[in-house]
Amino acid sequence: MNKTYKICVLPGDGIGPEIMGEAIKVLNVISEQTGVSFSYDFGRIGGCAIDEDGTPLPEETLRLAKEADAVLLGAVGGPKWDQNPGNLRPEAGLLGIRKALGLYANLRPATMHPSLVEASSLKPEVVAGVDLIVVRELTGGIYFGEKKRYTSEDGQEVAEDLLIYQEKEIERIIRTSFEVARKRSKNLVSVDKANVLESSRLWRKVAERVAADYPDVTLSHQLVDSCAMQLVRAPKQFDVIVTENMFGDILSDEAAMLTGSIGMLASASLGEGSIGLYEPVHGSAPDIAGRGVANPLATILSVAMMLRHSLGMDEAAEAVEKAVWAVLDAGYRTGDLTEDRSQALGTVEMGQKVIEQLQKQVVGQ
Ligand code: IPM
Ligand code: MG
Repeated sequence: MNKTYKICVLPGDGIGPEIMGEAIKVLNVISEQTGVSFSYDFGRIGGCAIDEDGTPLPEETLRLAKEADAVLLGAVGGPKWDQNPGNLRPEAGLLGIRKALGLYANLRPATMHPSLVEASSLKPEVVAGVDLIVVRELTGGIYFGEKKRYTSEDGQEVAEDLLIYQEKEIERIIRTSFEVARKRSKNLVSVDKANVLESSRLWRKVAERVAADYPDVTLSHQLVDSCAMQLVRAPKQFDVIVTENMFGDILSDEAAMLTGSIGMLASASLGEGSIGLYEPVHGSAPDIAGRGVANPLATILSVAMMLRHSLGMDEAAEAVEKAVWAVLDAGYRTGDLTEDRSQALGTVEMGQKVIEQLQKQVVGQ
């Protein structure tokens, strides 16, 4: 089969270009092994786009993304643009593309791989066997509600961020999470702050209503503060967590650290249409950018999610994941995964290990 998939590649800022380089090499190996071709359209997003195009999300980037079968993104942001006004910050580009492509469902799996148990900051017995997924609402809530900045009558500077959700926005993400839970161990925890927030009370009501359509899945509710505590106390109680945009941002970083390093976590952002956006959960890490030491595995695992969710190449996805785990089992580590920095591999070396492993495996489509 001589299929060609169009991949829109947005390396972004900081370590973005470095980790993306390795992800593309991995895709090229998959192409050699399966006969499926990938064409890459590179675009700018975030700080590099602000510098070159005067906007964090150029029209051209959005056009490339909309024409693609899938979007692969590195990371955005850096101190250089920290003083910019909100609409001219790198993050506005990321939020803009999520919204423009209608990617309301963000899947962030956090799986503890046995050979990384020692890399976690928590006790081995607490984290061994953790296998959960955070389903984060991605195009609503306080991230996208109206923002205001003004001076009050008594001369105080005031800032407002509106946290707003419509029933239908809640319903579709809750449905996504039930579908995900159905394919796993059928245990769904919906996280909110219903003891304080009106939007959370609506969230809970909608979750309860949708639950009637999924009698095979057990739904429970946790308050976000309690969930944050339970995640570090007894994370194995969780299978699928569904939550609104900002809580999901926070809890997914926390969940990531359970598994050893945020440098390992991949994500998929999906919507109604067929297009998906795949990116590591971590940021642009300006402190280590350009040094060739960043962990490329989260981006490589994002490639696996892309193969599975957007391109229907399940076997290839499994092969990539298997190669990553084999490399870790063999003891190879980047700096974020080991205390012994003298033994740590750089970005390209780690990418190369995955490629060598992949070449040893036989991959079908
Ligand atoms: C994430 C990031 C982004 C977010 C930032 C960079 C805007 O933290 O994807 O988790 O808050 O969504
Ligand atoms: Mg985040």
